[in-house]
Amino acid sequence: MIRWFTEWLQRLVQLGIDLAMSLIGGLIQAPIEAVARGRAPIAVRRGEAHEVIDVRHRVLREGHPRQDAVFKGDEAPGTCHWVALQHDRVVGVVTVIEAPMPDPPPEAEPRPTHQLRGMAVLPELRGEGVGRELLAAAQLGARPLWCNARVGVVPFYEGHGWRSTGEPFSIPPIGLHQRMWLP
Ligand SMILES: CC(C)(COP(=O)(O)OP(=O)(O)OC[C@H]1O[C@@H](n2cnc3c(N)ncnc32)[C@H](O)[C@@H]1OP(=O)(O)O)[C@@H](O)C(=O)NCCC(=O)NCCS
Repeated sequence: MIRWFTEWLQRLVQLGIDLAMSLIGGLIQAPIEAVARGRAPIAVRRGEAHEVIDVRHRVLREGHPRQDAVFKGDEAPGTCHWVALQHDRVVGVVTVIEAPMPDPPPEAEPRPTHQLRGMAVLPELRGEGVGRELLAAAQLGARPLWCNARVGVVPFYEGHGWRSTGEPFSIPPIGLHQRMWLP
């Protein structure tokens, strides 16, 4: 009788320990996964129009209707979207759309026929080379290119060989832009 009771008690204690361990495991697993996710490598690949809208909206059209993050030409056959992925999450985007450069400078010969648009990296991943990788992918095989760069980001493009042309101009409601091109 005493032996049976001891075994029963041991099983009960073990059950309690197992339950506590699984609860603690569940509690610490989420932060561990979050840290692993933050450190995961980033891969750039060709994307689809629907994959770029969320990051575009969050970074470039915050506070505006989501539809404002959809660009004319997003679904055109000549359009190329690029996405930077960390695990399965899109963290950066850029798009190249067929559109002739307005007022090209004489040295922009041949005239750029493709516009770089919607360059955006999530704030928490900036400064880690994601923008550089996206730009390199988009530029490959698409030169010459042109873009309307936000004035604050002109040095980013200059660092990758882009040149400014003309005076800064306003695109309401976003602000001042600089036309740039890449031979
Ligand atoms: C601009 C943006 C795409 C850059 O992406 P990122 O991942 O932070 O850039 P990277 O880490 O790849 O930086 C690449 C280089 O550009 C430089 N750089 C990045 N952002 C810069 C900026 N705003 N001004 C000057 N230089 C910049 C970096 O210092 C780095 O230089 P290095 O090669 O000498 O080290 C990102 O800051 C962003 O999404 N900004 C808000 C949206 C925006 O303004 N988009 C452009 C619309 S025209």
